Amino acid sequence: MSSDLSGRVAVVTGGASGIGEAVARLAVERGAAVVIADLDPARATAVADDLGGHAVALDVGSAPDVAAVAEQIEREIGAVDVLVTSAGITQRPTPPEDYDVADWDEVFRVDLRGTWLCAVEFGRRMAVRGQGSIVTIASVAGMRSMPLHAYTPAKAGVIAMTADLAAEWGRSGIRVNSVAPGYTLTPLLRERIERGERDPSNLAGESALGRMVDADEIAKAVCFLASDEASAITGVNLPVDAGWLVAPTWRTYDGIPDKR
Ligand SMILES: NC(=O)c1ccc[n+]([C@@H]2O[C@H](COP(=O)([O-])OP(=O)(O)OC[C@H]3O[C@@H](n4cnc5c(N)ncnc54)[C@H](O)[C@@H]3O)[C@@H](O)[C@H]2O)c1
Repeated sequence: MSSDLSGRVAVVTGGASGIGEAVARLAVERGAAVVIADLDPARATAVADDLGGHAVALDVGSAPDVAAVAEQIEREIGAVDVLVTSAGITQRPTPPEDYDVADWDEVFRVDLRGTWLCAVEFGRRMAVRGQGSIVTIASVAGMRSMPLHAYTPAKAGVIAMTADLAAEWGRSGIRVNSVAPGYTLTPLLRERIERGERDPSNLAGESALGRMVDADEIAKAVCFLASDEASAITGVNLPVDAGWLVAPTWRTYDGIPDKR
C-alpha cells in the first residue's frame, strides 16, 4: 500500500499525548520506526514502550536541544524520513488589554519557534539526502479570528511557514504540508473544557458534521501526507475539522440544515 511507511524513520514532536500520540501509533502500524520527542519524558517513554518506538526528551523551543536531539536520533536510530511537529500549547481566551506578554511569548516560543526550529534542523539533513516529508500541525484557529491573541497568529504563522519551506526545499526532494485540526478531544482540549474556557456543545454544534474530530482522524490525514501516496502534494494546509470552517457563516441565514 502506498500510504505504507515501512522502513521510514518518523519523528513526532509532542508525541506523548493527544494528536501526536495518535500519529505515532498509526505510523508504527504502518511500519515506521517512530521517535517520540516530547517535553514530558515519562509520558513519552510510556507511550514509546507501549507502541514499540523510541522516546527522547525535547523542548522544541530550545535551539540547542533541538540540534542535539536531531543529531542523537540520526546517530542512534537512523536518517529521519518523516517529521511531524505536533508539540504545542494553547491559551485561555483573554482580552488583549489583559493578556500578559510573557504568556503571549510562550505560546509563540512553543507553537511557532518550536515548529521552525524542528523543521529547519531535520529539514537541513533531509535536504542534503534529497528526500523527506514534513507535516506541521497548525489549527483552524490559524485560519479565522478568535479571542486567542497569541495562539491564532502563531498558528497562522505555522501555515505560512509551511508554504515557505515547501517552496524552499521542493527541488531538494522534501515535501512540507500542514494539517489544521478542528476541535479534537485530546487532553489539551479536555482541560480547557473542564476549566470552563470552551463549551463542548458549541465546539461540536458549530460544524457541518455536528461533531468534534477524533485524534485518529487527524492521524490518518497526517500519515497520508507523510507517505508516498501524497507524492505530488506540497505546500498545502489540509483542514480536518468536521466542516467547522464552512459552517459558522450559515448562522446569518437559518443555520446548518437538520438531517433531511
Ligand atoms: N486538540 C485540539 O482541538 C487541537 C485543535 C487544533 C490544533 N491542535 C494542535 O495540535 C497539536 C497537539 O495538540 P493536542 O491537542 O494533541 O495537545 P496535547 O496537550 O494532548 O499534546 C501536546 C503534547 O505536546 C507536548 N509539548 C508541549 N510543549 C512542548 C515543548 N515545548 N516541547 C516538546 N513537547 C511539548 C506536551 O507534553 C504534549 O505531550 C498542538 O500543536 C495543538 O495546537 C489541537
